[in-house]
Amino acid sequence: MPTLAIIGAQWGDEGKGKITDYLDENADMIVRFQGGNNAGHTIVVDDKVFKLHGLPSGVVRPGKLAVIGNGVVVNLDDLAEEIEQVKQAGGSMDGLRISDRAHLIMNYHKKLDGAEEKYRGKNVVGTTGKGIGPTYQDKIARIGFRAGDLLEEDLLKDKISFILPYKKDLMAMLGAESCSCTNETLLSKMLRWKDLIGDRICDTSVLINEALDDGKKVLFEGAQGAMLDIDHGTYPYVTSSATCGGGICTGSGIAPNRLDKVLGVVKAYTTRVGEGPFVSELTGDLGKELQSKGGEFGVTTGRGRRCGWLDLVVCEHASRLCGFTSIGITKLDVLNDVPELPVCVAYEIDGQEVKHFPASISKLSMAKPVYENMKGWKGWKDTSALIKGGYDELPGEMREYIEFMERYLKVKADIISLGPDRDETIDRRNDWWY
Ligand code: IMP
Repeated sequence: MPTLAIIGAQWGDEGKGKITDYLDENADMIVRFQGGNNAGHTIVVDDKVFKLHGLPSGVVRPGKLAVIGNGVVVNLDDLAEEIEQVKQAGGSMDGLRISDRAHLIMNYHKKLDGAEEKYRGKNVVGTTGKGIGPTYQDKIARIGFRAGDLLEEDLLKDKISFILPYKKDLMAMLGAESCSCTNETLLSKMLRWKDLIGDRICDTSVLINEALDDGKKVLFEGAQGAMLDIDHGTYPYVTSSATCGGGICTGSGIAPNRLDKVLGVVKAYTTRVGEGPFVSELTGDLGKELQSKGGEFGVTTGRGRRCGWLDLVVCEHASRLCGFTSIGITKLDVLNDVPELPVCVAYEIDGQEVKHFPASISKLSMAKPVYENMKGWKGWKDTSALIKGGYDELPGEMREYIEFMERYLKVKADIISLGPDRDETIDRRNDWWY
């Protein structure tokens, strides 16, 4: 099975970084296919800690190709800092490749992100402020800069001459902080970007497909989560990229029939950052307790994450849209000693029981969670002993919780994560290559 995708089943922050790091050891190539540096993951290799936002996680492993696909938006100033961070730690950047079709996040995108949020007033999305939405807007409006443009100076000059004045007018109109650059200073900045990464820019679709033709193992690393998908998420409280299954193909340039396995990463409870509906949210002390026990604070923005019970209506939506062939469950340890664990299995909306996640935000705001109560597990502090014993030695209540999820989602939990370290993992895979 040469391809595996890892996708978050909720609103991001499910622990994909740890699972990707656990599984990418045997992959030859790791590909990011959507999003930008709104993502954030911490990777620990030996005694080195890497905090990455834009670079694919595989970049820190020697001998692997780490690909930024065409569906990603790239902030090259921030990427330069991450590249430096990895180099300082003794890592190599030899494996990094960037799609010539990937769009570039410009300074004005960040300023416009802030200005648009202000305009929304009480309808604020709560973005990460990284300029993600405005960059994807320009892609769709056909006025974006692509990485490949850096290699063509005349094209760059021509595009700058009409895009920059347009953006300056727009910023003035929206009351955004103004941008001091001129056509000339922007051109020289972009030529410096070319010096930095010009030799890494290529047609990554060809690269990925040729690797697959050669029988190489390719891992597609999702960012954010299924519920933040621009089409299928809780619109408008979403990010601006395709985070679900289809995004893998459009964002990396592979055909659907090249996809083999999709592992959905499900946190044992639910979190989300920013605004938007959250039916199983815990607004009281228990929510705060989960936030602090689970360390639920954003890697990118430091914002506290909203916390709530596991919502299987959400996970079913994600599984259907991403084609999960199995799941990895993370952060079960955070639920240790919680006496009762309600699991949301449906919503009650206007007196009706609803099993599928609705599109309407107003319906979602009326939705009441329908819970099935599961028993919690107590007194299981020694994670290493638990892991040594394997799945069958896990507390019965924990196994029931896991198996309830498996039955509901109709897929097996191949990976059970009981802590942040690689060895705090129970691996139930049968014949996977990774
Ligand atoms: P944007 O992607 O910065 O435009 O933000 C849009 C929404 O997606 C906001 O609610 C963000 O908090 C959320 N978001 C973006 N990236 C992440 C992520 O990596 N984890 C969790 N939420 C995210």
